[in-house]
Amino acid sequence: MVHRVLVINGPNLNRLGSREPDVYGTLSYSELTGAISEKALELGFEVDIRQSNNESEIIDWLHFAADSQLPVIMNPAAFTHYSYAIADACAMLGEPLIEVHISNPGAREEFRHHSVVTPSATGVIAGFGVDSYLLALQALSRLLLSKA
Ligand code: DQA
Repeated sequence: MVHRVLVINGPNLNRLGSREPDVYGTLSYSELTGAISEKALELGFEVDIRQSNNESEIIDWLHFAADSQLPVIMNPAAFTHYSYAIADACAMLGEPLIEVHISNPGAREEFRHHSVVTPSATGVIAGFGVDSYLLALQALSRLLLSKA
């Protein structure tokens, strides 16, 4: 059985590759989506990868995931730390939500230490660069298998 999964990326992640490479690495956004698609295929997922710099668009996508009963892997980027609207939308999800971060926000500036998304997340994977997404797919695959 093929599972669908929605991968949502928040603001500024479209700038990967050129954005603070010392923090986020040199892989571009399109290379990131390529790596996610490859891993998803290997694990038998049908993946839908989206990025937006716009909070309302991300909220609409979370509503779509809730209505379609889709699991979500999300890097909310800076919205992680202050968007109660995104947090409320995450609370409506009925399927697993995995929060991912390329860097380890807990090891960075104080304002990054708190996530308003984590209370609704099944789990959080942070600090492994692009591998955070690949580990999230792996974790989701095992989770869905254990539920089947
Ligand atoms: C991030 C960490 C956030 O603090 C930051 O605002 C981002 C990216 C990460 O992937 O490490 O934009 O979510």
